[in-house]
Formats: sequence, C-alpha cells, structure tokens
Amino acid sequence: MPGSDGVGVDLVAAARRAREHAHAAYSQFKVGAALETADGTVVTGCNIENASYGLTICAERVAMFKALSEGHRTFTRIAIVADTEAPTPPCGACRQILWEFGGDLEVTLANLSDITGLHRLKDLLPLPFDSRLL
Ligand code: THU
Repeated sequence: MPGSDGVGVDLVAAARRAREHAHAAYSQFKVGAALETADGTVVTGCNIENASYGLTICAERVAMFKALSEGHRTFTRIAIVADTEAPTPPCGACRQILWEFGGDLEVTLANLSDITGLHRLKDLLPLPFDSRLL
C-alpha cells in the first residue's frame, strides 16, 4: 500500500492526519509527525507558526514534547510528512532534540502518497553533542 511502512502501526498515516492540524499561516508549509513509543503508543505533532516567526515550533518537536509531557521516555520510530516530492528531513534543532530523548530513532520521511526516505537518526546527526560530552 503506498505510504504504508508495513510494520506495526501505520505511523505515516498518523503523521498525515496530524499534518492537517498544522498552523502554517506564514510559510504555508504544513508538516505532520508521528512518534512511536516503546510500548506502541503513537504521539503526533504538527508545526505551529507564530507572527513572531522565531517562535515557530516544528512538528517533530511538538510530537516529542507532547510525548515527554505525557510521561513517555522510550521511543522507536518517527514518521515525518510534508506535501513535497523531495523528502522533508528534520531540521538541525529537531535532530538535536530527537537525539537527546529518542536516541537512534528510525526516521521515515513521506509525502501525501509515498514514502520518500528511511534513515537512522545517527546517520542524520553523525557527530552529536549530548550528555556524554558534559
Ligand atoms: N518544519 C517542520 O515542522 N518540520 C521540518 O522537518 C521542517 C520544517 C516547519 C517549520 C515551519 O513552520 C515550516 O515547516 C517551514 O520551515
């Protein structure tokens, strides 16, 4: 099935649904994310923009902060969806946050019809700054 990762919960479908809630009034670039916890719970997020542009928060960080605030601490996978032909990978800030709390997540990138990329977070953030260095 196009857009299905074929493993367990359809995380991509959840990210597509989450994207519909994006508040992207300035960029018109809507993003959805779905994060899977170790117990199989799916926590979603979308980007939320602000007239003070720098206060914008990406879909991935919304999903992770929601999950953390609900008590989840162990994560396996994240799916990220945008309506683009080319994959939309997480920005640098999101990579750092995802690494801190999710470790070497499996990262599935997709658009509204297809999967466009499959990565490990450690490949997207090859030399991370983290607590081991403090
Ligand atoms: N954005 C995300 O939510 N996640 C990404 O992976 C890339 C960028 C958002 C931030 C902003 O609201 C819009 O996309 C354009 O940068």
